Amino acid sequence: MTRKSAGQDKPLTDLWPGQSVPLLKALHILTRDGALNADSRRKLKQVLHLAQLIKPALDWALAEKDAPILADLGAGKSYLGFILYDLFFAKAGKGTVYGIEARTDLVATAHRIATDSGFDRMRFIESAIAEAALPGGRADIVTALHACDTATDEAILFALRHEAKFIALVPCCQAEIASALDGAPGPLRQLWRHPIQRREFGAHVTNVLRGLFLEAHGYKVRVTELTGLEHSLKNEFIFAERHQRANAQARGEFDKLVAQLGAAPSLLRLSDESRELPAAAG
Ligand SMILES: C[S@@+](CC[C@H](N)C(=O)[O-])C[C@H]1O[C@@H](n2cnc3c(N)ncnc32)[C@H](O)[C@@H]1O
Repeated sequence: MTRKSAGQDKPLTDLWPGQSVPLLKALHILTRDGALNADSRRKLKQVLHLAQLIKPALDWALAEKDAPILADLGAGKSYLGFILYDLFFAKAGKGTVYGIEARTDLVATAHRIATDSGFDRMRFIESAIAEAALPGGRADIVTALHACDTATDEAILFALRHEAKFIALVPCCQAEIASALDGAPGPLRQLWRHPIQRREFGAHVTNVLRGLFLEAHGYKVRVTELTGLEHSLKNEFIFAERHQRANAQARGEFDKLVAQLGAAPSLLRLSDESRELPAAAG
């Protein structure tokens, strides 16, 4: 769809049919006169790409469930939740979108925008993800876009607690494994010798382990890129759909990799209390 908005040179080509321009102004993605700066364009593009990628999950939830529930974790300004509500939940006339966010000011602003927009099936919970619980204790779809560091692991555990059928993650910065690898021995230690390599390898390994952890818990996992790297460096999209209770082979691969590295995202490791972190090999 192409709309020419005042105050900018380029036409506003990014919007979906029927998408609310007043909402984008309330979110400050568009300025009052309809302009879109480079940062806003990037953010809008990320959110709309994510909406496209998870559309099958949204279509399924809205078709199959009487009261579908989507929880967006580490919601920030709740761009994602608002846009998904506008594009899918408002039109469907059913379903609830929850935004969970630790910052009081962001929760208050999101609440005000939802009220002003008449989005009466949006809810905002001020909480750490690790401590959050939805009324009814379940969610059909869990999203976490750029939830910082271990907040993505909190999101994974939240999704398991709420028996989510679909989980969509775009992880953010990750420091935990890089710091655990600092000086760690093992046959692979050349892979993380220098700080920049440790950071990048640590981030990569964290996401590999997250994928295996989800597979171990019965999810089918697809890992792709969200948008082009020109839009964000934090661009890995992990999409998981539950199709069985557990997968012992994936559990074995998770344990093997953790043993080889001597490091794992601690929240995922500790979530299974019957297991000890295997000692680093070599
Ligand atoms: C980088 S922002 C991303 C916000 C939003 N998802 C987006 O993509 O625009 C990360 C947000 O997660 C929130 N956050 C970080 N750790 C959290 C946690 N453990 N529990 C709840 N919120 C958290 C931060 O306050 C921040 O608003």
